Amino acid sequence: MTSLIAVLPGDGIGPEVMCAGLRVLRATAARNSLDIETREAPFGGSALEQLGNPFPAATRDLCLEADAVLLGAVGLPGPPPADPALRPEQGLLNLRALLGVYANLRPIRPLPGATDASPLRADKLADVDLIVVRELTGGVYFGDKQEGDDKASDLCSYSSEEVERVVRYAADLARNRRGRVTSIDKANVLATSRLWRTVTSRVMADEFPEIELEHLLVDAAAMRLLTHAARFDVLVTENMFGDILTDEASVLTGSLGMAPSASVGEGRRALYEPIHGTAPDIEGRNVANPCGMILSVAMMLELSLDSPRAAREVEAAVAAAIADNVRTADIAGEGPAASTEEFTDAVLDRLKP
Ligand code: IPM
Ligand code: MG
Repeated sequence: MTSLIAVLPGDGIGPEVMCAGLRVLRATAARNSLDIETREAPFGGSALEQLGNPFPAATRDLCLEADAVLLGAVGLPGPPPADPALRPEQGLLNLRALLGVYANLRPIRPLPGATDASPLRADKLADVDLIVVRELTGGVYFGDKQEGDDKASDLCSYSSEEVERVVRYAADLARNRRGRVTSIDKANVLATSRLWRTVTSRVMADEFPEIELEHLLVDAAAMRLLTHAARFDVLVTENMFGDILTDEASVLTGSLGMAPSASVGEGRRALYEPIHGTAPDIEGRNVANPCGMILSVAMMLELSLDSPRAAREVEAAVAAAIADNVRTADIAGEGPAASTEEFTDAVLDRLKP
C-alpha cells in the first residue's frame, strides 16, 4: 500500500532542509522498497503571503488524507499580522490540534564529531541518550488569550485526561529504554503543575509500577540538563516547558540544527519536524544544517512507514558523514564547512551499499 506523505516546506530555511530530507527519503525508500507518494502544499508565512491564510483549506485536507506530515519550519521575519489567527505559528498550532498529535518526541543523542561544537565539556556529553516527551496540544499554547494595550493574559489549563495520555506514552517508551521517567513541572507555584504531578504519580503507580519515576521542578531540570544530562532517560513535561527545555537540550548535540522530532497521538497520523525555526539570517544561502530534518525523516520511517531498518540506515549515514568530518557551518568549528547540499550528498553516499 502506498503511504501518502504531506510535504509542507514552510518558511525560511524550511524549503532547503526539506529538499535535503526528501532526497534522503527517496533514496532510502528505493533501497528498502517502500511505496511512498509525496505531495507538497503551502503552509505558514509563505501560504499567508500567497493565499492569505497560513493553513489553507487544501493543505488541511491533504494533511488529513496523509499517513504522515513532514514539515520544515514556519514564521515570518517581519512584524506579525495584526490578526493573531493569521500568524504562521498559529497555523502550526492548528495543524497539531487537527492531527491530535498530543505527544511530541524529541530525542537528544549527541553524535561523536558534532559534539565539539557544544559549549559543554566532553565529559558532560558522554552517554547522553534522552528523549523529551513534550505535551503538544494543551497548556498555555491553547488557552484563552486576552490581548490589550495595558494588560494581557494567557490561560494555562490541563485536564487529567490530557496528562494521563501523554504520561502513558512516555512510560511506554521508558519500558523499551532504561526504565526511568522524569516528570517536569512547577508544582511549587502552578495549579496545573500540581494536577500534572498528582495524575502522573497515579498513572505510574497503577499502570507502570516497574518504571522508576522522579519529579523535578522545571528550573532545576533546566540546570540538570546541562550538569547531569546522562542521568536522564525519558522526560515528560507540559507544552511550554517542553518547548524551552528542548532548545536548551539541543546544545548537548552541538547545535539546534541537529535535533529532530515526531509528534504522535491517537491513530496512525503523525507529524515530523526538526525542532529548529526558520533561521531567516541564513535563509537561501545553502548553509543550514539539514540533520534535524533528515533525522525527522528517520523517525517517520520508523513510526509511520514501519521501517525501523531504513530509519537505522539513515541515522547511521548521518553519523558516518559527521564522523568523516563533513559538517555544516554550525558544527564545523575551525574546520571546513559543508553546504546543506554537500552534507546531504555525503549522507546519500553513505547510504549506498
Ligand atoms: C517548536 C517551535 C514552535 C513551538 C513555534 C514555532 C510555535 O518553537 O516547535 O518548538 O513553540 O511549538
Ligand atoms: Mg521551540
